[in-house]
Amino acid sequence: MAKQFDVIVIGAGPGGYIAAIRAAQLGMSVACVDAWQNGQGGPAPGGTCTNVGCIPSKALLQSSEHYQAAGHHFAEHGIEVKGLELKLDTMIGRKNSVVKQNNDGILYLFKKNKVAFFHGKGAFAGKADGGYAVKVTGTTSEDLVGKHVVVATGSSPRALPGLPFDEKVVLSNDGALSLDIVPKKLGVIGGGVIGLEMGSVWRRLGAEVTVLEAMPEFLALVDQQVAKEAQKIFTKQGLAIETGIKLGDVKASAKSVTVPYANAKGEEQKLVVDKLIVSIGRIPYTGGLNPEAVGLQLDERGFVSVDGDCKTNLPNVWAIGDVVRGPMLAHKAEEEGVAVAECIAGQHGHVNFDTIPSVIYTSPEIAWVGKNEQQLKKEGREYKAGSFPFLANGRARALGDTTGFAKVIADAKTDEVLGVHIIGPMASELIAEAVTIMEFKGAAEDIARICHAHPTLSESVKEAALAVDKRALNF
Ligand code: FAD
Ligand code: NAI
Repeated sequence: MAKQFDVIVIGAGPGGYIAAIRAAQLGMSVACVDAWQNGQGGPAPGGTCTNVGCIPSKALLQSSEHYQAAGHHFAEHGIEVKGLELKLDTMIGRKNSVVKQNNDGILYLFKKNKVAFFHGKGAFAGKADGGYAVKVTGTTSEDLVGKHVVVATGSSPRALPGLPFDEKVVLSNDGALSLDIVPKKLGVIGGGVIGLEMGSVWRRLGAEVTVLEAMPEFLALVDQQVAKEAQKIFTKQGLAIETGIKLGDVKASAKSVTVPYANAKGEEQKLVVDKLIVSIGRIPYTGGLNPEAVGLQLDERGFVSVDGDCKTNLPNVWAIGDVVRGPMLAHKAEEEGVAVAECIAGQHGHVNFDTIPSVIYTSPEIAWVGKNEQQLKKEGREYKAGSFPFLANGRARALGDTTGFAKVIADAKTDEVLGVHIIGPMASELIAEAVTIMEFKGAAEDIARICHAHPTLSESVKEAALAVDKRALNF
């Protein structure tokens, strides 16, 4: 006899587990099915984000930054470190335990919110009386029926043609987060978010890192003033970055990878590395979901087709997160999860795509929301921009981290904030203020008139807002 639910969520990544919790909060009976296994074969909810994405990468970024600081920056604070040693197994072990804390946290939240969790693969098995039949196989075998189904099956890394990931020498994000030695030479194909974050981790730990990027501009989607500053800083830190390259036929052996490529000038080059991270984007994942059983429509790139409200072509079947259009970000998946649960409950769930922040967790961090200068120029929209360097911020000086700047862009006539772009310390935290202001359709003048605590890095955002009107006080 199949178990009946108001809502079945397939996938317990940030999209799925949040959708399940919100639906339960709204009084519905909810099942969440997730297949991810930990090293012991047990459940590991949290998806890519928790297991091989946001959380473990930030754990290693933090650890590697401490190592870098102890080796290179403590001395200027009068702290001498003798016999500095890297214990990579401890560092990776700590990362694994941070992941486990998050897995356990989600299992606890399911219990607390009375979400029935099924560990296994969920597949559509056809239409059923009262909704859709979903078959769970794997650790758990179960037949479920849901009035509503939310597909939140996420994404997987894109491989180079003819070069599958072996996670030993050719690494996706998964292998790049679990190396047992620091490679002497590390190659990275794709100078996007994963390439820069993972490249930074292993460079700080001692690898010689070369990043090969196909696009002629570095970080083409980022405000180009910020991108240029980032390229300068990362290069100075020791990351070798080549843009405008064209890859040849990459060959992997058991111990090394040979990467032939033409550089931006068209000259043939050859890079030989111990390990190669391939971070050229991700693709939607619907393996094992059996969408054909119910006629769920996918688009030509394999994403589940949805409208602006995450409705699929089938009544009462919804899809959210990386498996649908839009930026592949955990917080975007979460917002869609909440919105869908609220729509199912008859409310007016909604995601504002114009105010989704983006962050690259390098050092310095890069964060932005809204439009950048190159986009506004293309649109022909008149704007004014103001910047403020962290070099002129007292807190940044006290921290010993004065790289970068904050930049506010506002409409030339109305002063409405159109975009905020930050490269600098804690940019990931500073951007929240900009998101709030933009959500309320605030003006640069609003940021400029709000009292910011002193001394804080956030004063740089206020000063950048003042600079929009050419009246920065500290620069
Ligand atoms: P996922 O997190 O991919 O979860 C999908 C889940 O569904 C998985 O657990 C999978 O096992 C399960 N599943 C799939 N099919 C089935 C099935 N048929 N039955 C049962 N279960 C199934 N984003 C940020 O916002 N900030 C960051 O700092 C950040 N860092 C990242 C770092 C890395 C290295 C990577 C790879 C990604 C990072 N991301 C980050 C992106 C973020 O991880 C994704 O956007 C996010 O995980 C998408 O959430 P989701 O719920 O859509 O899918
Ligand atoms: P990405 O889209 O950020 O970057 C991929 C890069 O590879 C691009 O710059 C692209 O031009 C380049 N590229 C593509 N094909 C190439 C080729 N053949 N040769 C050389 N370069 C090539 O994708 P990435 O880094 O793989 O990350 C996937 C997604 O995961 C991101 O888009 C992001 O949504 C998410 N993510 C988010 C993070 C965050 O929020 N901090 C951190 C890590 C990942």
